[in-house]
Amino acid sequence: MPVIKRRGWEIPEHQATPEALFFDRRRLLAGAGAIGAAVLVPRSADAQRVSDLPDPSASLYPVPRNPKYVLDRPITDEAVNTTYNNFYEFGSAKTIARAARKLKIRPWTVKIDGLVEKPIEIGIDDLLKQMPLEERLYRFRCVEAWAMAVPWSGFPFAKLVELAKPLSSATYVRMETFLDPSVASGQRQSWYPWPYTEGLTLAEATNELAFLVTGAYGKPVAKSMGSPLRLAVPWKYGFKSIKSIVRFSFTAERPKTFWGSVQGNEYGFWANVNPAVPHPRWSQASEWMLGTKERRPTQLFNGYGEYVVDLYKGLENERLWA
Ligand code: MTE
Repeated sequence: MPVIKRRGWEIPEHQATPEALFFDRRRLLAGAGAIGAAVLVPRSADAQRVSDLPDPSASLYPVPRNPKYVLDRPITDEAVNTTYNNFYEFGSAKTIARAARKLKIRPWTVKIDGLVEKPIEIGIDDLLKQMPLEERLYRFRCVEAWAMAVPWSGFPFAKLVELAKPLSSATYVRMETFLDPSVASGQRQSWYPWPYTEGLTLAEATNELAFLVTGAYGKPVAKSMGSPLRLAVPWKYGFKSIKSIVRFSFTAERPKTFWGSVQGNEYGFWANVNPAVPHPRWSQASEWMLGTKERRPTQLFNGYGEYVVDLYKGLENERLWA
């Protein structure tokens, strides 16, 4: 990413995402049946701000772990992961956790449109009810050469594709992040092509590894990490993992991506992890773990080749890497 600050693990304790917001969540949810939506809607000027209220999906977590996906390294410390982030909507430094607290995650409507049988608009809580939630331990690799290991919760992207019922002419899915410069100060920087967009082929989106994340560390995913809905595609560089998604559009053309539009020579569409192909500014030969700074050799497809290598057969002439 154009502006790099690598000292997120050194930030003071007081900047860490506050757990206090979650302390009361079970009691609040238990009472929600009796007092209904009123709990979530402040009615007076001194009521809590909407952006500060506990996540109403909290009672869904933790979800059962899928034992198929195992790690070769320890899980990254939650406090590190939630406070060292790329989320340009809230600033170009890694320390955006405090600013991201302004994000309003309810109501949150997800649009599914484009080449589908019938466009859908669905609230995130209705979507969560329809999707089979599970936990998966995945490695994560940023093109800036830092890496982490995360216990994500969410559901297979393939399940969303099933719900969307794309037409046979659809070959890509384009994803879009919210657009609200009043809460996301980064979106007032007009030189960026907001909203953030990303894309996958339909074959990639329905690969068993492609995962739509709604939680992490046994609770709803933190705002700094892309609440309430983000992507995890662990064989690709992290910039593909679009955060706070509001729209999925099925298309026949390859979608434009945010970083591809900003600097196409640095951020290719495929963005698969490859130790042998350096990014113009970062060698990809090795990576360092957030929290411990341990160095490890980079693995082709971030170690997930057995799942994804077939996706790229016949594309040898394309730029398959960053
Ligand atoms: N999604 C949005 N909407 N905005 C962003 O700036 N940054 C990307 C990706 N998704 C980004 C985004 C990049 S560059 C990375 S490395 C990952 O989010 C970082 O995810 P993390 O903060 O959970 O580690």
